[in-house]
Amino acid sequence: KPVEPFDIVVFGGTGDLALRKLLPGLYHRDLDGQLEPQVRIFGAARGTLTREGYQKMVREALKQFVKEADLERAKVDAFIERLQFVRVDASGDAGWDDLRAALEEGTPNDIRVFYLAVGPGLFGTICKKLAEHDLRTPGTRIVIEKPLGTDFASAQAINDAVGEHFEEHQIFRIDHYLGKESVQNLVVLRFANRLFEPIWNATAIDHVQITVAEDLGAGERAGYYDQSGATRDMVQNHILQMLCLVAMEPPASLDADALRDEKLKVLRSLRPIVGDDVRSKTVRGQYRGGAIDGKPVPGYLEELNGHVSTTETFVVVKAEIENWRWNGVPFYLRTGKRLPSRHSEIVIQFKSVPHSIFGEATGGLTANRLVLRLQPNESVKLFMTIKDPGPGGLRLRDVPLNLSFAETFHIRYPDAYERLLMDVVRGNASLFMRKDEVAAAWRWIDPIRQGWEDFNMTPKLYAAGSWGPTDATALIARDGRNWYEDA
Ligand code: BG6
Repeated sequence: KPVEPFDIVVFGGTGDLALRKLLPGLYHRDLDGQLEPQVRIFGAARGTLTREGYQKMVREALKQFVKEADLERAKVDAFIERLQFVRVDASGDAGWDDLRAALEEGTPNDIRVFYLAVGPGLFGTICKKLAEHDLRTPGTRIVIEKPLGTDFASAQAINDAVGEHFEEHQIFRIDHYLGKESVQNLVVLRFANRLFEPIWNATAIDHVQITVAEDLGAGERAGYYDQSGATRDMVQNHILQMLCLVAMEPPASLDADALRDEKLKVLRSLRPIVGDDVRSKTVRGQYRGGAIDGKPVPGYLEELNGHVSTTETFVVVKAEIENWRWNGVPFYLRTGKRLPSRHSEIVIQFKSVPHSIFGEATGGLTANRLVLRLQPNESVKLFMTIKDPGPGGLRLRDVPLNLSFAETFHIRYPDAYERLLMDVVRGNASLFMRKDEVAAAWRWIDPIRQGWEDFNMTPKLYAAGSWGPTDATALIARDGRNWYEDA
């Protein structure tokens, strides 16, 4: 179903995010008939470029980032026709009036989206310019994306600077993980099935693991990444958002504030990790050279051309939520670059049965486990203990009830950005972070990073292609548990 017609201005319109994700995402929505003919797309950037030049650039990008089968000539041409280019100097005065003129030409659409696909240093400046040059309309929305600061104070500064010119309901803070099909499915699984909710608590659940593993290194983004590290890059946003969806109380509805109120409560219930706990509840790692899939890959420092860095490319945090539902249930969070494969999942490990009647029977763990594979190969697996079939005595075995999405649904999965962009147009903020969530997440992260500094906890090296430093295994083993794929 088409969304209301809109105008979108992409600042950083010639940049990586725009060309790799945003414009291909808009193209796909167009292909599916969601964009009315009146929709207009404006690339804005500092460089000198003609409209034709920009159209050519985007055409190339589509060729590179959209599957060939989806590139229908007529559709591509029609999409390219929507594009205009405006040269704007984000921090100076040049171009702003041209942008206003371009937007006001013809029949402007009521909905006006400004997507700030630029560094956070420009968020405040651009908002100020939009106000000064009279570019805001009642239907204006502004989209920003991480890094939303590097700590609580800098995040507040961004929130304040943007908030000075836009109302909170106009501000859409993207966390692209919330746009993933599999992450949304987590909410459906929890709240559309009668089965889980009664046992979704400390009575039945032993612990939770959230892993986001990547085989890629910091690579071309090393400049940004080295200032950030795994904790700021992945834990503060994506992983904590997923933790919230696993741990929150049932919201009354999917209304943006109903949902975000519940997530906020989780963030505020996280037990602070301070002092000595930083040593026992966190692990930092950095990859050295190694091999992935048999191919040698360089270490992180080599990618930085020998520049000395204590940035972590791997992190484990044992998080605890201080409320009735989750008392005593650790959430082990783990993410890293140059791990053996790209692989994200949430594991809900249930407790074993209170008393086993099977005496000497061998095999089986008699503890259920729900594994939500987020990517790749989205699936939901519920491990059950069953009788190993056959005449030879009573043996137990763990087997999964396995719902593989690829086998069940033969459709293309929209990229996270496609869904989120359409939600911006619809004005639906459910899948976007509210400013107090961002602040609460930083408040929990900051003391951890402070602890690393105080204790001089530099990252432990791990070989590229391994599951991180041995400390990561030791941390969970101390609790008598292990990481799911090691099982
Ligand atoms: C981004 C991080 O937010 O998420 C990257 O900055 C990371 O470092 C990426 O690679 C992972 O996203 P996805 O969708 O590929 O899992």
